[in-house]
Amino acid sequence: MSDESKREPNFPELPMADVLVPMVQSAALIAAGQLGLFEALAEKPLVLSALAASLKCDLRGVRDLAQCLATCGYLVREGDTYSNAPHAQRWFTSKGQIDYAPGLRWSGLSWQLLSGLAESVRRGGPETMLWSLMEEKPEWGPTFSRYMEAFARHLGPDLVANVAVASGATRLLDLGGSHGLHSIAFCRAHPELSAVLIDHASALTETGATIANAGLQGRITLRPGDLRDADWGSDYDVVLLLSVAHNQTAADNADLMTRISRALRPGGLLVIHEYLADAPISPYGAAFQLALLSETGTQQWTSLDFAGWLDHAGFAPPRRVPLMPADKGTLMLAKRRPVD
Ligand SMILES: C[S@@+](CC[C@H](N)C(=O)[O-])C[C@H]1O[C@@H](n2cnc3c(N)ncnc32)[C@H](O)[C@@H]1O
Repeated sequence: MSDESKREPNFPELPMADVLVPMVQSAALIAAGQLGLFEALAEKPLVLSALAASLKCDLRGVRDLAQCLATCGYLVREGDTYSNAPHAQRWFTSKGQIDYAPGLRWSGLSWQLLSGLAESVRRGGPETMLWSLMEEKPEWGPTFSRYMEAFARHLGPDLVANVAVASGATRLLDLGGSHGLHSIAFCRAHPELSAVLIDHASALTETGATIANAGLQGRITLRPGDLRDADWGSDYDVVLLLSVAHNQTAADNADLMTRISRALRPGGLLVIHEYLADAPISPYGAAFQLALLSETGTQQWTSLDFAGWLDHAGFAPPRRVPLMPADKGTLMLAKRRPVD
């Protein structure tokens, strides 16, 4: 084989370009989220000086940031005037489909943990667990919850379309329910339903207000605490475990499934949302796994892992619903087997 044919086709000739370009483009996206740049362009294109004035930033700073975002396709430039590219308008502004700008701001905090990735790799996990960091740094919990809220708006229609709540159901348990949007959606769709939501106190700083704004403070109860040792109550018809299992160890998940089974009425429904580690792993899946290593030290699990935990806990085999696009994850719907 010649040297030429051995060369990987997609790498640039300048080796550090492959490090610098994606790193700085990611930093530029995060800065755009922190500054509100995409939102500033949501109504109309702006000339650079007007954009800098609206962001209260230095003209040269905004020029360089906008130029970088244009070269990676997030902005469109015409002379000195910039507008959002369709993708940025759709996903990072209040005028689009879902505003994921809170995800950009969360990424700025996650980046701080990733800067110590080599140490996390040596150690096999973070120095300090994300949930403990959130107790030390008051802005971290709400920033993460706002990002989860954006994702919940995206996932909401999939849940409504795929989760059939039995008629007569009255009690829902939302484990790791964070922002409260999923409990709100189920309570709105099913007027007889009331919900109990358990999460770390750091995740719930804005949840009470969100529930009150929805007029549901009489039907959704918040219980701050660690779900591994909190009292959940019992006799539930539906339990939500949405994007929570990847934050737990295998032993904790096995224990959670057993406790969920006991907390459900026979025939009750467990709704799991996850990013499964089934092969082949996607680039998004591999990146998410490494981010988990640096944040919580936990990992994504396979459908076989879930099948084993659920069977042992007394559930019938789950129905799997892969979501589209695939990076949105998978729903698993499992019913508690009737007691013999
Ligand atoms: C990835 S977020 C998902 C939030 C929400 N369920 C959703 O789907 O949008 C995981 C949530 O689980 C909570 N969580 C993880 N481990 C927990 C634990 N041991 N006790 C209480 N909450 C926990 C986190 O605080 C966070 O709010």
